[in-house]
Amino acid sequence: MDMRTRKESGFLQGARSRDFRVRWARSERTERLFPGFVRFGVLVAILLSLASLEFGQSQGSSKMTGPAASTALQKQRQTEQSFAPALVTRGHSLFLQNCAFCHGRDAGGGESGPDLTRSKLVAEDVNGNRIATVVRNGRPGKGMPAFSLSEMQIAALAAFIHAQRAEAETENGGRRGVDVADLETGNVEAGKAFFYGAGKCSACHSPKGDLAGIASRYQGLQLEERMLYPDEARSKATVTLPSGQVMTGTLAYHDEFTLGLRDAAGFYHSWPVSDVTYTINSPVKAHVDLLGKYTDADIHNLMAYLQTLR
Ligand code: HEC
Ligand code: HEC
Repeated sequence: MDMRTRKESGFLQGARSRDFRVRWARSERTERLFPGFVRFGVLVAILLSLASLEFGQSQGSSKMTGPAASTALQKQRQTEQSFAPALVTRGHSLFLQNCAFCHGRDAGGGESGPDLTRSKLVAEDVNGNRIATVVRNGRPGKGMPAFSLSEMQIAALAAFIHAQRAEAETENGGRRGVDVADLETGNVEAGKAFFYGAGKCSACHSPKGDLAGIASRYQGLQLEERMLYPDEARSKATVTLPSGQVMTGTLAYHDEFTLGLRDAAGFYHSWPVSDVTYTINSPVKAHVDLLGKYTDADIHNLMAYLQTLR
């Protein structure tokens, strides 16, 4: 799917989407104005990455032997293990909210984002220094949006990504976050039990009602995406202004400082969060919460069950 379509369809809803759009537009303009510079920039980038590739090889990872190798490995382990579990946990939930859609729930790669556990950039990252640049600037034009996240949030994300990387390495060969073959491995009965039981899906859905025929509308990964991230359902916000006036609308922007909504007439309003009281009602909050709770088996079983709803 084109990034623009995805964006319009409400993905990256609220908080980051406006920012993303601004940067996106800016980068397109830059490219039109300075095609030469851009091409030159690309050349420099290629040269730099070649240089760093060589540097990386001379640092040697797999091919190196002897004491040098074990020191390098030790050093690498140290970086991997020096993250507080709480930071990793915080990073995990941030990752699920912001990154998992593209990079997979376990950072092992998704449909549109690469496997971060095998990324050279991540391997070279120390405490988020390289990851921060990518996350803040994005890679416009390549499908990686820019995020305005605090230093603390990026540190947590980096900790999580490094933890996943360490885990993938011990898993010998690793695995991908979303694998089409996985979609075939679930158990229908277990999926149905989860739907009515632990997953509480039946509180909001019915296989004979809204989900009837869902497997005919979406197939494979697309169905899995719909299940994990039903993205176009917009959150509603109710804001009480200092004057006592109450406004309601669709949540259009929200970060730690600002809250924005679009009213019924389509007008955009925003306030510093410190000036107003507000409630946000997200119809898909249940799904966001579920992301942190599913095991891979739950997802495969649910998928098997949903695939029977034709
Ligand atoms: C809309 C999809 C999308 C989302 C959301 C997304 N990414 Fe990405 N990301 C990409 C794509 C595509 C690339 C590869 C870009 C390229 O080819 O240079 C990428 C590249 C990266 C890289 C560089 C990997 C490398 O080896 O060069 C890092 C690090 C990264 N993303 C981290 C994140 C983090 C952290 C988040 C969440 C805050 C995130 N991404 C959210 C699509 C996404
Ligand atoms: C608190 C309510 C709630 C719970 C619980 C819930 N969902 Fe949803 N779900 C929604 C809403 C709201 C949407 C978006 C509605 C839409 O797009 O039609 C949605 C969308 C979906 C979709 C996409 C439907 C479509 O037509 O695109 C699937 C599939 C889905 N949910 C499956 C599940 C499963 C499986 C569970 C349990 C693990 C679950 N949901 C739990 C509220 C909920």
